[in-house]
Amino acid sequence: MLVAGNWKSNKSFNEAQEFANAFAKLTPPAEGVEVSIAPPAPYLAALGQEGVPFRLGAQNVSATGPGAQTGEFTADMLAGCGVQDVIVGHSERRDGHGDEDAAVAEKVDRVLESGLRVIFCCGESLQDRQSNVHFDKVLRQLESGILRLPAEDMSRVVVAYEPIWAIGTGLTATAEQAQEMHAAIRGWITEAFDADVSKSIPLLYGGSCKPANADELFACADVDGGLIGGAALNPEHFHALVEAAGRAQAKRMQAEAI
Ligand code: 13P
Repeated sequence: MLVAGNWKSNKSFNEAQEFANAFAKLTPPAEGVEVSIAPPAPYLAALGQEGVPFRLGAQNVSATGPGAQTGEFTADMLAGCGVQDVIVGHSERRDGHGDEDAAVAEKVDRVLESGLRVIFCCGESLQDRQSNVHFDKVLRQLESGILRLPAEDMSRVVVAYEPIWAIGTGLTATAEQAQEMHAAIRGWITEAFDADVSKSIPLLYGGSCKPANADELFACADVDGGLIGGAALNPEHFHALVEAAGRAQAKRMQAEAI
């Protein structure tokens, strides 16, 4: 299980450090649970140097390498700051920040070339779902983003399904809706690669995931954790999600042992 936080454009630098200090005092994640947080980019170098009690993530990356690209930062620069995970294709960047499918694919390539792990986001709008094209939409995003990759790169790919209508709205996909899409995603990865690759890819759910609904979502067979926005801003709330992932992981390990 993987619980990843996306702080988006929130927190001062002091607040980011306070979070890291508070989180370090809480119970460490259970066996088999990974924790990653993507703070705002200006804080990454300092947090990477100070050390944080979670994997350090970035929320964005340049689609190109170094050069005359004012304001951009490359995947190699992120790696040099201690970043391990990079969120690519978030709907808030796809919508209005130029991250069309082609740019998203370039970013995925740059992240993987730098040896980092990509958290690849996909998800449909409310209109897509109401028009019953949500599966097509997500499949297209996956095809251009990751299903084209060489199989050996897939060990550094995480997929986050984030239905746009559930992000920051308080509306959550039901466990059935999440599981249905996650099972479809797992199936498409199996078709493009094989069952072993598919089983090894963490599939995260994102969209108003919070302590009150995490147990139900994480209990779904194909939900391997969450990409968390609002509930990742408070160390106790985020820690409650990490604990929920621990409970789900313990049940999976028990089931495997039988
Ligand atoms: P919320 O958890 O605030 O809905 O945000 C989800 C998200 O966009 C994480 O990337």
